[in-house]
Amino acid sequence: MNSILYTHDLSQLLPIVEGYSAVFILVDSNTEKYCLPLLPEELKGKDVIIVPAGEENKNLASCTKILHVLTEKNADRHALLINLGGGMITDLGGFAASTYKRGIDFFNVPTSLLGMVDAAIGGKTGINLENYKNQLGTFQIAKNVIVNDIFLDTLPDAEFKSAYAEVLKYALIADKEMWNELNSVPETSRERMDIIKRCINIKNEITLSDPHEKAERKLLNFGHTVGHAIEGLSHEKNKPVLHGEAIAAGMMVESYLSIAKGELSEPEFIEILSKIKLFCNPANIDDFSIEELLAFMRQDKKNYKSEIRFSLLKSIGDGIFDIGISEEEIAEAIGIVLK
Ligand code: GLY
Repeated sequence: MNSILYTHDLSQLLPIVEGYSAVFILVDSNTEKYCLPLLPEELKGKDVIIVPAGEENKNLASCTKILHVLTEKNADRHALLINLGGGMITDLGGFAASTYKRGIDFFNVPTSLLGMVDAAIGGKTGINLENYKNQLGTFQIAKNVIVNDIFLDTLPDAEFKSAYAEVLKYALIADKEMWNELNSVPETSRERMDIIKRCINIKNEITLSDPHEKAERKLLNFGHTVGHAIEGLSHEKNKPVLHGEAIAAGMMVESYLSIAKGELSEPEFIEILSKIKLFCNPANIDDFSIEELLAFMRQDKKNYKSEIRFSLLKSIGDGIFDIGISEEEIAEAIGIVLK
C-alpha cells in the first residue's frame, strides 16, 4: 500500500529525502517549467533529468536517457528518483527506478489529476512499446506519494476534464454514493482534495488486496480495454486523444456490454452515459475502424488464451471482472455506442 502525504507544504519533502545517497528529479518539458519552481529551494540544486512531454515519449528512448544519467552520475542503490509530473512521468520514472541496479527507491509527486487518482498510486510502472500501452512494466510501489492539489492549477482545462473519466470509473466500480454526489466539477481546493482522497482510498484498498492484478485489481481496468485501444490507435494515426477521453469512450462501450453480461440495467446505462458526457469529452472514433480497434484489444493484458476479457459493471458501484466477450459482441457495442 502506498504511503500518501497530503500536503500544501512541499517543504515536507525535505525530511523524507534525507539519508539517500543522491536525489534525482525527473520532469518533462512542462513540469520543468510549471512545477519544478514550486519545489523547495533545497531540492532545486539536485540533478534534474528532463524528458520531452507527451505520452508518445513514454518509451524506451526516454527510459534509456534516465538510466544513462543515473549511470553517468554514479547513482548507487541508495539513490532516490523523484518523479514530478503526470502519469507519463510517474509510469516512466517508476519503471526506470525499478529496473536500475535491480531497483532504487522512487517518490511520486503527481502534478495532474489523473496522476493523483490513478497512475502515481498502486505500484504499476510502465512504458509503451510502439503504440501498445504499458507493454513493458513492473509492479513496484513508490516509497512515498506526495499529493498537493496546488499543481492542478498548472493544468490545461482539457487535461483536468479528461481525468474525470478515472474519477467516474472509481465511482462506477466501487462507490455508488460518490457517483450520486458527483454532479458538478468541484470548485474549491477542499472539495477537490476530498474527491482525490476518496479515489486514492478506493485504489489503495483494491491494490492492497490484489497488488499483482490476479483478481479484483482488474476492476480498475473498467473502460480500459476499449479505451486503451482507442488511445493506442490515436497515437498510431498521429491524432492523439487524451487518456481520459479514450477511457470515457471506453466506459461508454463497456457499460453497454455490461447490460448483456453484467446485468446492468438500461436506466443505469443511460444515467452512466449522460454523466460521462457531462464531465468528460469522450474521444471521437470516426477515423478508426472497428477491426483496427480489435487488433489493439487482442494485445490487452487481461486476455487469456486469445479471449478478450473485460471488467464490467453489475450495477453502478459494483464491478465484475474476467468476463470474456466475443469480437462480434465488441464490434456491435462499439458500432451502437460510438459510431
Ligand atoms: N490503472 C489501473 C491500475 O493501476 O491497476
